[in-house]
Amino acid sequence: MIRHGPPRMGQDDRVTAVDLTDPGLYRTGFPHPVFDRLRAEAPVWRHPDTPGTDALGGSFWVLSRHTDVQAVSRDPQTFSSLDGPALLGTSPERQSRMLVTMDPPDHVRMRRLISAGFTPRMTARLEEQAREWAVAIVEGALARGDVDFVEEVAYQLPMHMIADIMGIPVADRPRIFELAATVITAPDPRLGVDTSAALDAQVELYTYAHELGAEKRRCPADDVWTTLTEAAVEQPDGTTTSLEEIELDLFFLLLTLAGSETTRSAITGGLVALLDHPDQLARLAAEPALMSGAVDEIVRWTSPVTYFRRTVTADTEIDGVRIPAGDRVTLWYPSANRDDAVFTDPHRFDITRTDSAHVAFGGGGLHYCLGANLAKREIRVMFEEILARVGSIEITGEAEWSVQGLGNPITTFCSHLPVRLSPR
Ligand code: HEM
Repeated sequence: MIRHGPPRMGQDDRVTAVDLTDPGLYRTGFPHPVFDRLRAEAPVWRHPDTPGTDALGGSFWVLSRHTDVQAVSRDPQTFSSLDGPALLGTSPERQSRMLVTMDPPDHVRMRRLISAGFTPRMTARLEEQAREWAVAIVEGALARGDVDFVEEVAYQLPMHMIADIMGIPVADRPRIFELAATVITAPDPRLGVDTSAALDAQVELYTYAHELGAEKRRCPADDVWTTLTEAAVEQPDGTTTSLEEIELDLFFLLLTLAGSETTRSAITGGLVALLDHPDQLARLAAEPALMSGAVDEIVRWTSPVTYFRRTVTADTEIDGVRIPAGDRVTLWYPSANRDDAVFTDPHRFDITRTDSAHVAFGGGGLHYCLGANLAKREIRVMFEEILARVGSIEITGEAEWSVQGLGNPITTFCSHLPVRLSPR
């Protein structure tokens, strides 16, 4: 069971004395006691300048309530995505070049394009593919017995699924996903990633994306990378153009990362939650019809994305608090998902919950997670195969957490979880 100590606020016991940029808060997951107090005492809170915020472009607003996360997500006119979802911001040449740094109408056109990549034929294939991968992954882990659940089980299914969808050959996957992880974590100054190593990773990743695109043009396939490299993007004047090189590069990065890291965390956190709540695990094993609700509860409970950020385009008010144009607001999904205004007894893990309107995939609106259905399907299939094949799972060592700092919206995740599996 993962437990959090009291909020770290030093001598000052007001919750607003907390520094959310302090990595110490996230060493074993999210600081829910801090979030509880923020929702109650300072739901619309301007985080003060601290040494931690200096590296992130200064102070920002923290929205911790479910209702505010939803309202901001659904108002792209007032709350722009142009400067990106991370506090670190987006360089001008990357703005409006990928879904997460776009506002309407560009966003609508780009989203239509990628949605066309998820063809009905491909969607139908996904269930069968996910099941084949899950069986192979679980059987392989069972054969080894002692495994790192995160790397050898939870990560494998989302990585292979998004790679299948994109059309990345199996042999290339470990290297490509390692590069994508380096590129995305490198800008966080706290990690001290060597700049030249990060640049090399970026060059290698994008070179690969170009070569894969050339291959798809030579031999088109029923996959998303073929769709995107051949795509005709509709312009406001009605003409069409291809995606530019930088847009393809950023799509490649977005899909490889968004499609793998978050779902890995949900599967890992889901296993830990079920082992921590044996009554829930037993019910799920006995009543497979509960699986769909269990998946939503796992996603609510784990909330793998810490926050997404927006920029205020015109002076506005949230809950009576004035927020000037140009300020940055952050939407704290793990906090909103434990809001007792929406969820009864929110800190109870309950797979039969009916109040399941969580915001782990975003608060609704244009940017709502493109892969939500895919992620839920992967989590469901993985736990179905674990329940069908594994007799017992024992956690055999300390879980390790990766704490990346608020530069990255995926601030914290369980990176290693040693387990021993035995077959049914
Ligand atoms: C449990 C797993 C996942 C979680 C918790 C998650 C969470 C999120 C969140 C919070 C957003 C931002 C929504 C907003 O700004 O309103 C998002 C956007 C996005 N997600 Fe996911 N995601 C997951 C899995 C996936 C997968 C498997 C894919 C693969 C296709 C994916 C692709 C995307 C993309 C492309 C966007 C940007 C959408 C846009 O800006 O229009 N996600 N996701």
